[in-house]
Amino acid sequence: MTIMNLIINDKPAASVVGQTIGKAARLNHSHVGYICGGHGICQACYVTVQEGADCLDALTDVEKAFLSPRQIAAGGRMACQATIAKEGNVKVLSRPEEIRRLLFSHPTALFAYGAQLGQDTARQIGPGIANLAGRIQRREMGGKEALGDLMESASGAVRLAAESVSHLLPFRDQIMGVIGTLPVKLPFLPEKAPPAQVLEKVNINVQPSSKV
Ligand code: FES
Repeated sequence: MTIMNLIINDKPAASVVGQTIGKAARLNHSHVGYICGGHGICQACYVTVQEGADCLDALTDVEKAFLSPRQIAAGGRMACQATIAKEGNVKVLSRPEEIRRLLFSHPTALFAYGAQLGQDTARQIGPGIANLAGRIQRREMGGKEALGDLMESASGAVRLAAESVSHLLPFRDQIMGVIGTLPVKLPFLPEKAPPAQVLEKVNINVQPSSKV
């Protein structure tokens, strides 16, 4: 196993050759998005490569479909797709961190940033959808595993958001109680069903199930 020198948002992140930047980011709890579970759909994992682009594999077909020529020219990669190909120094900046820095240093520039992002996204809608359709047709995605990854990453995002702003959420317990009654098991919820008092509070009549 070859150890790499990867820096994400100015912080060192343990990584190895053969790993994607997205995987390394997740393992190091770096601030890189991961909404679609690394299936190349959401672009939340967009990063700008500041150094060491030559240490990464070539752009994948997914990146060529989803990233605009402007983004590619600016060093943009999708972290879940960009694999570390050889040893060296790689330095990347994630989109949330880029936005955070702009917000504190040059807030008015966020308008231009948002407009540019909108243009890039609009330009790539056609190629992106075509790429996605092709992958679904080839059965490269859409299976149980992809759905599981999606649920896991979405629930992680929900949990993070709930923890971050829990004091701002009205009826938090009630909301969590209602979510707990859904037929789908969400990984961020406790194993047990919500207590009866919670259901009473939100006025839910629980009918006994005919089948177990
Ligand atoms: S995590 Fe969704 S595109 Fe990379």
